[in-house]
Amino acid sequence: MSGAHSDALVIFGVTGDLAHKAIFPALYALVKSGALQVPVVGVASPKWTLEQLRARMENSVQQSPGGIDDKDAMRRLDELTSYVSGDYNNLATFAKIKDALRGAQRPAHYLAIPPALFETVINGLKAAGLTENARVIVEKPFGRDLASSRELNAVARAAFPEDAIFRIDHYLGKEAIMNILYLRFANSFLEPIWNRNYVASVQVTLAEDFGVKGRGAFYETAGCLRDVIENHLFQIVALLAMEPPAGQSYGFVQDEKAKVFQAMRPLKPEDMVRGQYVGYRDEPNVAKDSDVETFCALRLYVDSWRWAGVPWYLRSGKCLAQTGTEILVELKAPPQPLFEDSAPTHGRSNYLRFRLSPRSVIALAARIKRTGKEFVGDLRELSLADEHPGEETAYTRLLGNAMAGDGALFTREDAIEAAWAAVDPVLKTYPPVRPYERQSWGPKEADALIAADGGWRNFGPEDGSGA
Ligand code: BG6
Repeated sequence: MSGAHSDALVIFGVTGDLAHKAIFPALYALVKSGALQVPVVGVASPKWTLEQLRARMENSVQQSPGGIDDKDAMRRLDELTSYVSGDYNNLATFAKIKDALRGAQRPAHYLAIPPALFETVINGLKAAGLTENARVIVEKPFGRDLASSRELNAVARAAFPEDAIFRIDHYLGKEAIMNILYLRFANSFLEPIWNRNYVASVQVTLAEDFGVKGRGAFYETAGCLRDVIENHLFQIVALLAMEPPAGQSYGFVQDEKAKVFQAMRPLKPEDMVRGQYVGYRDEPNVAKDSDVETFCALRLYVDSWRWAGVPWYLRSGKCLAQTGTEILVELKAPPQPLFEDSAPTHGRSNYLRFRLSPRSVIALAARIKRTGKEFVGDLRELSLADEHPGEETAYTRLLGNAMAGDGALFTREDAIEAAWAAVDPVLKTYPPVRPYERQSWGPKEADALIAADGGWRNFGPEDGSGA
């Protein structure tokens, strides 16, 4: 059944934050484009009426960037939606879902619920006969370490074949991230230099200038490494580091990405810096003596033929100086310093820079001679700025793909487990958390981590014209 379109969507956790923030606007966009025409059954424990759920959906779409710009689409979404309230531990809840599905044969079940509830819900679906020909869509975090991710995979695999499990990492649904794969393999000029012979180091930054935004309780159980590095940043590393896929089928891309995670050297505490912004402990639902990191920087090695010895520096944090995601692939300096201002004594040499957000920029930096008698120059960027007007949100794209059975932008069991295996050692033994000022670039220890490789590139607000 892997090709057939799902004929209903069941959303567990429909009264929660994720539904309000991301899922309802995605459903609305799908209805608007005609891609969603099947019943939507919302499920949660609160005893809401259908009217309450509809009001919540409308409020969510209203607050999303485009607002309700097509009243007819909003009305159609309302009409497609029904609500089942009940306890996930009670099989009667699943009988009610079955009734609400009114004979649908190929439902997709979206688990927008904490991972601790996955097993209960999957078992309830199985008992009610709702897993046959069905798909399951699960949200990150997929586990909190290697052991729990294996357990979750086993639970999911006991009820669904791998090609019916859609594990969401919303970064994979972003246009700029899809473009990494395209840029690498739709062109031939990068391949000759895309390896340890030419690349000195790679750094990836996902910076946010805001704090935990009321998600203190969640954050206390996660921390920065689990929240964004092990998934979003690791996915970026896999796309940058993977070998060319053997063919067009997305399974080949998944194969190559999995190999990158398998080749990641397990992290050691000395390859990691943990930080916490001043004031985090005063956030609601955060422990007064919390040791949870809101900033994390890593030095990582992908021990593959292509990348042996090249350090990959990853960092992310809340309450940093800017919001944005950027990759810097630094190329080695020319073999001889023929000019007075040659690298490495005078800063960086060539690099490729991919700014992924808030807007997409791809830049190649080269040294260009200044006018005059002296052989001195400046590092200047040739850059392509790409706006994506009318770009689908990641959730719209991913939800639409999952319903259509297209797994290209989802993560696979072996890749998830290999990624956890790389971080598992530092989940158990880790360095102390270092305080850092808000609106800074994190603790100074993070600068020391990368000092030998030219330092972090701390960017400015728009095109990254920072230091
Ligand atoms: C989420 C994390 O997965 O990704 C958040 O839980 C983080 O803490 C967010 O802010 C970043 O996503 P985006 O799309 O806003 O860059």
